[in-house]
Amino acid sequence: MRVGVLTGGGDCPGLNAVIRAVVRKGVKTHGFEFVGYRDGWRGPLEGQTMELGIAQCRGILPRGGTILGSSRTNPFKIENGVERIKENLAKDGVDALVAIGGEDTLGVATKLADLGVNVVGVPKTIDNDLSGTDFTFGFDTAVNIATEAIDRLHTTAESHHRVLVVEVMGRHAGWIALHSGIAGGASMVLIPEQPFDIADVCARVETRFESKYAPIIVVSEGAIPRDGGDMTLVSGELDAFGHVRLGGIGDRIAGEIEQRTGKEARAVVLGHIQRGGTPTAFDRWLATRFGLQAIDAVAEGDFGTMMALKGTRIERLKLIEGTGELKLVSPEEYAEAQVFFG
Ligand code: F6P
Repeated sequence: MRVGVLTGGGDCPGLNAVIRAVVRKGVKTHGFEFVGYRDGWRGPLEGQTMELGIAQCRGILPRGGTILGSSRTNPFKIENGVERIKENLAKDGVDALVAIGGEDTLGVATKLADLGVNVVGVPKTIDNDLSGTDFTFGFDTAVNIATEAIDRLHTTAESHHRVLVVEVMGRHAGWIALHSGIAGGASMVLIPEQPFDIADVCARVETRFESKYAPIIVVSEGAIPRDGGDMTLVSGELDAFGHVRLGGIGDRIAGEIEQRTGKEARAVVLGHIQRGGTPTAFDRWLATRFGLQAIDAVAEGDFGTMMALKGTRIERLKLIEGTGELKLVSPEEYAEAQVFFG
């Protein structure tokens, strides 16, 4: 069998570990051949391939990014996109695809599977917002990077008696903010699921200073103010999946805090630092196991499925079950962190 592999959407640490596991087990156990498709769905759409075998996977386990490249190409937004993908797969002699991606890439995989393409999905996103799986790889790395940043920000905030607002990724879900905020001892965590009251944020800033500590506020890029304000945009332009580019909420909050409390406040945007570089051991472990199970699913002809972590077991779900809705922070989980606010 000849198997195509692609990585789509925002990159995340651990993608190369999946590719390596898929190829190693595919070649050694199942005797498969591989084709690497470049830059997400653009690869099969435009017939852009690269050689992919054990040799190309040597040394990539600890490397961030993806050797295949990535893009946010949506074939359903391109004329004859699906037909072109089917034609190119046939031309390349590809019998099955392993698609590694988040809600958008796997959303495309779900629709293609319904249209008869043999596809198996592997979930990835630093945001950890895919339902069906307990964790996605990339998340643990992002949380560790954000936590280290918060640790460092504590000492400088305290030296200058300043408020530091740390903006982390998380378009729809506040998982990175919540986990790094708890791990880093933040004095407040603001997430998209719970619109925030800026007066409450300022009140907690004041109480934090009363206890002689400098406040660190961790905010997801997608957090929204309760008083009807909107999400903070870098650009209103939509990508191929209808997403705007978020950013700037940290600055906005810091400005409000300075104005309302008279305390000096600065914002730090962690941005793509959270997505780059080497994966943690947990992410390498999870990505490798997803890859091993995904290629077994291909060998068994179990198409239209995706891998999911349940406890410590890797299970297979129908793609639609894993991509149908987002996994959000529940009010109960948020309430746990609130004990430390202020
Ligand atoms: O989907 C993951 C994510 O990290 C989001 O949290 C963020 O909004 C987005 O990617 C930004 O990605 P890019 O800069 O590639 O558009």
